[in-house]
Amino acid sequence: MAEDYVIEMLHITKEFPGIKANDDITLQLRKGEVHALLGENGAGKSTLMSVLFGLYQPEQGKILKSGKEVQIRNPNDANALGIGMVHQHFKLVECFTVLDNIILGVEPNKLGFLQKAEARKKVMALSEKYGLRVDPDALVSDISVGMQQRVEILKMLYRDNEILIFDEPTAVLTPQEIDELMEIMRGFKKEGKSILFITHKLNEIMAVADRCTVLRKGKYVGVTDIANTNQEELSRMMVGRDVQLQVDKAPAHPGEVILDVQGVNVPSSTHKKSAVRDVSFQVRAGEIVCLAGIEGNGQTEFVYGLTGLEKVTKGTITFCGKDITHASIRERSKSGMSHIPEDRHKHGLVLDYSLENNMVLQRYWQPEFQSHGFIRKDKVREYSDRLIEQYDVRSGQGSVTIARSMSGGNQQKAIIAREIDRDPKLLVAVQPTRGLDVGAIEYIHRQIVAQRDAGKAVLLVSLELDEVMNLSDRILVMYEGEVVGEFDPKTTTVQELGLYMAGARKQGKGE
Ligand SMILES: Nc1ncnc2c1ncn2[C@@H]1O[C@H](COP(=O)(O)OP(=O)(O)OP(=O)(O)O)[C@@H](O)[C@H]1O
Ligand SMILES: [Mg+2]
Repeated sequence: MAEDYVIEMLHITKEFPGIKANDDITLQLRKGEVHALLGENGAGKSTLMSVLFGLYQPEQGKILKSGKEVQIRNPNDANALGIGMVHQHFKLVECFTVLDNIILGVEPNKLGFLQKAEARKKVMALSEKYGLRVDPDALVSDISVGMQQRVEILKMLYRDNEILIFDEPTAVLTPQEIDELMEIMRGFKKEGKSILFITHKLNEIMAVADRCTVLRKGKYVGVTDIANTNQEELSRMMVGRDVQLQVDKAPAHPGEVILDVQGVNVPSSTHKKSAVRDVSFQVRAGEIVCLAGIEGNGQTEFVYGLTGLEKVTKGTITFCGKDITHASIRERSKSGMSHIPEDRHKHGLVLDYSLENNMVLQRYWQPEFQSHGFIRKDKVREYSDRLIEQYDVRSGQGSVTIARSMSGGNQQKAIIAREIDRDPKLLVAVQPTRGLDVGAIEYIHRQIVAQRDAGKAVLLVSLELDEVMNLSDRILVMYEGEVVGEFDPKTTTVQELGLYMAGARKQGKGE
């Protein structure tokens, strides 16, 4: 007897130049289940979901909705079938309000007049019902990524979608937001909605999924019931070997002060009050210092101030003995500051450039890559090929691949390769492993520790408490723009950090 599948993708094959992103993949979604999709960076997850959402046409295979074959030629077709998608990289219009984004393309009208009040009512009702707490009048450019994601979720709900695709929704969320999203998903499930959920975090799959389909290098590996499996087995299915989830590292031997931050303020783009207030700390050679905190407590703005993306309005930043408080981005970069940015699309890559040109973005003018005003293309190619090989950056066409076409995790790996290989004195790493598969995380964590052991100063900014506890030698907690405590990961606990992150405690003020 045929099972009760809402969606069946059968023998799907989708090719891109140089690569079969999906090679005979089958995925069957039951009604009312949370179905996880797991696979290494570049395994073909986003591609498969884009096929289901009508963004790509497969060369082979077919899609059934409730047992009947359907043609999904574009996202409108998908919507008509009740399929909605929250993309890995959000697709909101930044200068529009939340409400305008949600109703974009399906604006309710009467005789050609926009019925915004009605739309607002429906949006607010949905927001209330699922505890999404969005402000319909806020501009998208002003809200946090977590909020942007809720807007994307509301877009699906507003269109009455019953099959919800989440492409790595938790990669950009705080632990609290992740718990909330899991709750939201359980709520959807209870109502009989069916969910496809991509994540690299195995604990999330264990917590919320009913079944999991595993892909590897474009191929279908298998599907398992979550009740009968565990994280080790999942990671083995996905990577094809055992993965070590803990980092091995020796105690740090901090040397001279590399970064000295004194009394720094950085303005906020949305509020009058500074986003960063009176922040002071040092990072020495050979240590990993982490700025921990809940998203939106000034970490982003601090890094903007440190790397020159935003101006510092008070205080000083000294880098290797030089005052760089007002230095240009290039000056900072030239004097040995590397930056793995939080937003890889906005600040990490030029998406329409080739991978090789992205690899030399801050260096193409150096003699190594340039002579008499001409780029030495052979040198750039050679260099890029080496990084790709060393850091296992996977893409269709290697060095000449356009960055935009690469999978999210591989874009991230390319940035990390570039920033580490510049041999910096200070590595500023913001959420470096966001969106990476467990195998890649293992590798990147080792690289960061190796940087430390080679005498580099590392400033890590992470929302992942596991990563913070695992990697750091010292932890500074930020709350509402200020550093409220300093901790030794060997003697503190996640619970204690949590209290400071939530503002329930502050050092030096009568604990
Ligand atoms: N539009 C495109 N043009 C060319 N190649 C593409 C395109 N989209 C994806 N690819 C390639 O297809 C492969 C699969 O990519 P996909 O984005 O589906 O991976 P993924 O499993 O979602 O990975 P990640 O976990 O990193 O997001 C990658 O090698 C990628 O470079
Ligand atoms: Mg993807």
